[in-house]
Amino acid sequence: MRIVRAKNYDDMSRKAANIIAAQVTLKPDCVLGLATGSTPIGTYKNLVAAYEAGDLDFSQVKTYNLDEYRGLPGDHDQSYRYFMNVNLFDHVNIDKANTHVPDGLMEDYEAACAAYDAAVAAAGHQDLQLLGIGNNGHIGFNEPCDSFIKGTHCVDLTESTIQANSRLFDSIDDVPRQAYTMGIGTIMAAKSVLVIANGDAKAQAVHDMCFGPIVPSCPASILQLHPNCVVVADEAALALCPAE
Ligand code: F6R
Repeated sequence: MRIVRAKNYDDMSRKAANIIAAQVTLKPDCVLGLATGSTPIGTYKNLVAAYEAGDLDFSQVKTYNLDEYRGLPGDHDQSYRYFMNVNLFDHVNIDKANTHVPDGLMEDYEAACAAYDAAVAAAGHQDLQLLGIGNNGHIGFNEPCDSFIKGTHCVDLTESTIQANSRLFDSIDDVPRQAYTMGIGTIMAAKSVLVIANGDAKAQAVHDMCFGPIVPSCPASILQLHPNCVVVADEAALALCPAE
């Protein structure tokens, strides 16, 4: 696991966008695993700017997002499909047919989750998987639990995640209690992983991800076993990590 220190959120966002841009430049038909949330917004802004400057071409890129709230349609303004359209897909020359987000309204969800994993595998797995990290160490919506769950599945969100995500909803009661998420096995199958984190609320989770025991109570800790994982984090998020 390589740790790259960023000065602040903007620096983290530029560094992360540069890594993703290098991936798209080196392999124009690459498969990107993408994340939502507050952390990647600046990264996506930098990618849009690079596209507008003529430096990036997304026409052959395929994307698979990590997760989606159960019960939210893609046009709901808090759905992750909507987030991806607004923050990235609507602003670059990606073919929307090549963008994939788990369907929050899937009916036979076990079959649909298995189909999502099969589609990621059939695409050759993610060349690069972008991840944020939850205050509780979750990746995707793989919440702290007793075991690492391999495939895409439905999860009950923890109170801490519902609380953290309520800032984006009118009221905490509007936050869905369940979500679909890529599993740990699907994430670990990516050829490279880029984790981004900023702010002191993430400091404990970042420490445990990088230096703690590899345990499902901190799902991100499994990334210590990934052969090609880079963490780009700002000073506040790295505050509890050893200096070098
Ligand atoms: C979102 C996702 C989550 C977030 C995490 C951090 O697709 O997979 O794991 O990355 O909850 O969220 P923010 O960036 O809002 O702090």
